[in-house]
This record gives sequence, structure tokens and C-alpha cells, in this order.
Amino acid sequence: MASIDVPLKDGGFGSTRRTDNWWLEPLLIFLGYALFLGYSNYAVFTPMCGPTQPCYEVPGTNYLSPMYSPLLFTSAPSWWPGFIPFSAAMLILWAPAGFRFTCYYYRGAYYKGFWADPLSCAVGEPGFRGKNYRGERKFPLIMQNIHRYFLYLAIVFIVLLTWDAWRALWFPVAGGGEVFGIGLGTLIMIGNPILLGLYAFGCHSFRHLIGGRKDVMSGSSVTKSCYDCVSHLNKNHMKWAWISMFYVGGVDLYIRLCAAGTITDLRIL
Ligand code: FES
Repeated sequence: MASIDVPLKDGGFGSTRRTDNWWLEPLLIFLGYALFLGYSNYAVFTPMCGPTQPCYEVPGTNYLSPMYSPLLFTSAPSWWPGFIPFSAAMLILWAPAGFRFTCYYYRGAYYKGFWADPLSCAVGEPGFRGKNYRGERKFPLIMQNIHRYFLYLAIVFIVLLTWDAWRALWFPVAGGGEVFGIGLGTLIMIGNPILLGLYAFGCHSFRHLIGGRKDVMSGSSVTKSCYDCVSHLNKNHMKWAWISMFYVGGVDLYIRLCAAGTITDLRIL
């Protein structure tokens, strides 16, 4: 059958014959990540809301910011280099950050949004990749393959954040002890491991682990059901990636504002 080639690219960086708003998605990705990275840096490097009041805990509650959980140290340990301002978040955030940074979806998104390479389908690229470019098959990008190990860490973090949500159901009382209760912060904290679970359990590596590595799954209906469930989450992986990412920032912001006294936690029960 006769065919003709219709080149969509005309030449250099950004050139294309596409007439749709192809630039909108990389732009939104850039702005979304820049906003989250900006806020995360602020949260990490601003651990104190007052001389003795940390920003990651709310007095009179067991609320703990997910950006500081698990809280390994409340002040700089003796081995901490004195020239680096201490923040407990620095000790733990590398794990969830590494999980997201190496995520298959995020990679595709930030390669477009931040490196512009590729910028979009059928759009001219910057051309800074040399002839020897081998993508994720060569160092440094081959390091992205450690994603599956970050997945294991992410699952541990979901367990820890579930524990934090449970602790948020208990409120210290004067004289010692704790009573059961529910505050708006409790509900917000319960939502966090749920959304992170919807994101993490739709991971491509998790899907492989659950059943994707097998040729057939007809032998086990339980495995098949789990695989179908993970596949469903996987289809919505992008959506849960964005929602869970901004939700983590939102939980930190709520706790931070309560800790600073800017707002008061609404006690429901
Ligand atoms: S592929 Fe996105 S979290 Fe694993």
C-alpha cells in the first residue's frame, strides 16, 4: 500500500507542526513539581515555629507531620556536622523522595517538564544528548532501576504513617494518660496513608511483584484478584501520584499552622 511520510518536526528545539496545546502538559508538570519542591524545602528547613515549639507537632495532640515521620531525633545528634542546619526531616525524606524520583510515571513527567528531553511527541528536542546517549541503560540514569528497592521502603513508610494516624486518635490529658478523640487533624492524617497506598500499590514494580512476572495466573484466584486490583490502581497511577504528593504537603501545612497557633485544630469528638 502506498504511504507518505508527513514529518511533524521541522527542525530545532521546540519546533513542530503540531497545532494543539502540546506545551501545556510539560508546563503544568514543571509548575506543579516546582511548587511542591519549593514547599518541601521550606518545610524541611523550617523545623521550628517558636523558640521551643517544633512545626511538626501540635501541642495537646499526637499529630506528627508526615515530612518528619518517623521522628528519629528532636535535636541535632552529636555526629551531625555543625555547619549544616539540623532538620529531622533530612534524615528520612530521602526514602519517599527517592521512591517518587525513580517512579516510572514521574520519570516520564519530569524528563518532559524539567529536562525538556523529550519535550513532547513530535516536537524538536534540545539536542544535548550526544550520539552515545543510551537513556536508562547507562550511568547515571541506570540508577533509576533501584526503584523496586525504594518501593520496599515506601511500604515501610506507609506502615509508619498508618501508626501515626492511629496515634492521632489519642489525645494527652493533664496529669498523664491519653483519651480517645477525633480532631480535624486526625481525619486529615488518616487520609494520608490511604492516598499514599493508592499511589504506591499501583506501582509498576508492585504490579510485577504481585503477578506481572508470571506467564499465567489461572492457578490462584487470590493472586488474580490482587493483580486485577493493582492493575486498576496502576491505570490511575498518575492521578494518585499527584493527589498523594500534594496531600502530604497539605498535611504538613495543616500541622504547621496549628503548631504555630495560626489556626486551631477542630476537635470533633
Ligand atoms: S512506578 Fe510509580 S511508584 Fe512505582
